[in-house]
Amino acid sequence: MLSKIETIEDNQGFHTFISQQNDAKDFHTILAAYEQERSAQAQEKAPEVNVLFSYKLEPKKREVGDFINFFTARYNTIKPMLQQRKELQNLTSINRLNQKREKEQVAIIGLVSDKQETKTGRIMMTVEDPTGIIRVSTSQNSEDYAAAKDTVLDEVVGVVGKCSDKIIFANRIIQPDIPVYKEMKKSPDEAYALFMGDFHFGSKVFMKDAFEKFISWIRGEQGNDTQKELAGKIRYMFIVGDLVDGVGEYPGHENDLEITDIYEQYREFAKHLSRIPSRIRMIVCPGNHDAMRIAEPQPTLYKDFAGPVWKLPNITMVSNPALINIHANKDFQGFDVLLYHGFSFPYFADNIESIRSKGGQQRVDLIMQFLLQRRHLAPTHKSTLYLPDAQKDCLVIDKIPDFFATGHIHRVSASNYRNVTMLSCSCWLEKTEYQEKRGLDPQPARAILVNLQTRKVKILNFNPQENEAPA
Ligand SMILES: [Fe+2]
Ligand SMILES: [Fe+2]
Repeated sequence: MLSKIETIEDNQGFHTFISQQNDAKDFHTILAAYEQERSAQAQEKAPEVNVLFSYKLEPKKREVGDFINFFTARYNTIKPMLQQRKELQNLTSINRLNQKREKEQVAIIGLVSDKQETKTGRIMMTVEDPTGIIRVSTSQNSEDYAAAKDTVLDEVVGVVGKCSDKIIFANRIIQPDIPVYKEMKKSPDEAYALFMGDFHFGSKVFMKDAFEKFISWIRGEQGNDTQKELAGKIRYMFIVGDLVDGVGEYPGHENDLEITDIYEQYREFAKHLSRIPSRIRMIVCPGNHDAMRIAEPQPTLYKDFAGPVWKLPNITMVSNPALINIHANKDFQGFDVLLYHGFSFPYFADNIESIRSKGGQQRVDLIMQFLLQRRHLAPTHKSTLYLPDAQKDCLVIDKIPDFFATGHIHRVSASNYRNVTMLSCSCWLEKTEYQEKRGLDPQPARAILVNLQTRKVKILNFNPQENEAPA
């Protein structure tokens, strides 16, 4: 079940660098010096990773039939996950229900196409499979009433119940979920992965000072001895989208931008990324603020806008979502990391009572768990913008990851659900009116550091406003 990972919030030792540097040099002078030094250094090679899934853009006109095929593809991928469940042993297809005796126990797998709550609190759903449609009724006395209440449109569920005329009275509503026996893999050697995102570079409220502290730390130039040692052991850095703030994202956006040219936003941000030691493999997916289509799956960042980022020698560009295997060798199978920017999250925070009542967007951990249980990153049609692919629903979580990393909500969290480490990355923006309108309460300027050998998580806080002065 969901458990909080014991995290250490590390504020100490990051505070002195900026005050020293600001006295001496401006930002651009520091950057120029780094570039010189980098070209002079022999570049240490970053580890290779294996991209298991990254969406490739196939331009094609979409037709109404694509939506039907898309939902069929989703059903066909999720159905085998549910078929393994022992509760669904008496499985039948919906068109065969009329052959069953009154009150006979039946099990079906279907996609929820409608859901209502009656005045007496009964949950009435319409469930479809490729052979037919059936109504499903769940009363408050049912064992899985809470699960029925949390059911969302377009998710694929298993239903167990008693058959009657054109209706099933359900006692079990079953999600595909993550098996309880999933192992917690640990790397045989000590290595670290860093999870970050939502830099929104180019915004007037981008936290330059905090970002400078981060860069100087990862280069081993800032922090106490332990922190420097940790920085030296980082092999992977994941960036979960919203690299830049973009342009024209909302009315009046230009007033909030320090850099109003999208090309320059990427060019300048790439210069900063180039200061990250070349032994660290950076894996980057896009977010909704990046210069590209917003519909998911989002392909890799477009080369014509983000060319300077593509040119970095230690970068791996992937789509949103994407699945990447890291740190594998002949003796160890490595870790599978699922990246998803998180555009669907606000929908579930606002519309699922069990999440909304516990804090909504403040509880990214609950949203992530909810999606893992449904094995889908955005099950409800309305929860995100997407392009239906007739062959494959790319937002299905078909392979269970070891790490599930997201951003978009701009809050930091680390938790564990059945040995999947769920990480929600921080942002690098001071709080703005726009964020307040979106109901965001950001926790900016944190980096999540994971020890791959122990699976322990540390949250490093680079926010100058929150760092304590040295004693
Ligand atoms: Fe963002
Ligand atoms: Fe975002």
